[in-house]
Amino acid sequence: NPPKPPGPLKFNGTKLVHDSAHPWKPLERDDIRGPCPGLNTLASHGYLPRSGVATPSQIINAVQEAFNMDSGTARFVTYAAHLVDGNLVTDLLSIGGKTRKTGPDPPAPASVGGLNTHAVFEGDSSMTRADFFFGDNHSLNETLFKQFIDFSNRFGGGFYNLTVAQELRHQRVQESIATNPTFDFTAPRFFTAFAESSFPIEFFVDGRNPVRGLSTVNATLFFRDSKFPVDFFRAAAPTGGSLALDIFAAYPIAAGKNVNGINTYTPDPTSADFDKQCLLYTNFVTKTVGGLYPKPTGVLRRNLIINLGFLFDAIEDSGCTELFPYGKL
Ligand code: HEM
Ligand code: MG
Repeated sequence: NPPKPPGPLKFNGTKLVHDSAHPWKPLERDDIRGPCPGLNTLASHGYLPRSGVATPSQIINAVQEAFNMDSGTARFVTYAAHLVDGNLVTDLLSIGGKTRKTGPDPPAPASVGGLNTHAVFEGDSSMTRADFFFGDNHSLNETLFKQFIDFSNRFGGGFYNLTVAQELRHQRVQESIATNPTFDFTAPRFFTAFAESSFPIEFFVDGRNPVRGLSTVNATLFFRDSKFPVDFFRAAAPTGGSLALDIFAAYPIAAGKNVNGINTYTPDPTSADFDKQCLLYTNFVTKTVGGLYPKPTGVLRRNLIINLGFLFDAIEDSGCTELFPYGKL
């Protein structure tokens, strides 16, 4: 059976995480990296298997230990990703592209494609990765990264801070509306976009620094090289996406998509948004996971039930109603 997720950290303050037990190493042949600069960095420092293929428990341990992501966020994000991009029988997830290292595939339409898979978790208007429509949705895009640095200089005096996050998130959405005919900004992407815009402030700034701004030098280390700064300390307290609403509030926008080519952005009232948070869970379970696994049997069905339980446990205090689309064990 898939094991229960690890619990919260016992000591949850700041500490040195770029230590001698976790040296950065360059990629070896077949090592996998993907759209998440956080997980890429953890793999390149050995907090995750350097191969880029990991179990949900390994990912939860790593994001807590090295970045101080809070337990609820770590579990929700990890099980959401695993349910749509991972192999539920072998309990392995690729942090990038599809690989045989996650084991034999379950029947279609399940894809087990890793985090690069478009539209189930990965989505449009990323800060430093291009939209899937333009080809590569997972590698650092030099033009977009230049824009990240430029915005940090123009709006943050050389640092990526809350103001920069607000401006850049708006800019990326406007660019996708104007250039990507398939632009989709409905849940879950609607939520992950605002949360991920907060992550560089929450997690990539040294925990001893009370000023929450990420220097362009350190942004380059994390985003381009998957590398901790020298002597890096993790965040001072457990956190995860707490600035997302502040980023949204600067330029509020309804969840929606381009319905008929560029510049046809139309709100989608069936999408979850910040006023309808339980719908994020409900639509994810019934539509996103349900679409990949219409009629699972055997071990696959059992592990779907177990992983969906872990997903709900992560939000059990939310007041949302747990769903059992595959029954109970
Ligand atoms: C983006 C997965 C934790 C930082 C992403 C994306 C995925 C992902 C699939 C691509 C979404 C997109 O931009 O289209 C995960 C999973 C995690 C996790 C499964 C498990 C807990 C973290 C942590 C950090 C982080 C701990 C920071 C330390 C980021 C950032 C982006 C991102 C900054 C946005 C990149 C951009 O917009 O260019 N993550 N992530 N993630 N992740 Fe993670
Ligand atoms: Mg993306």
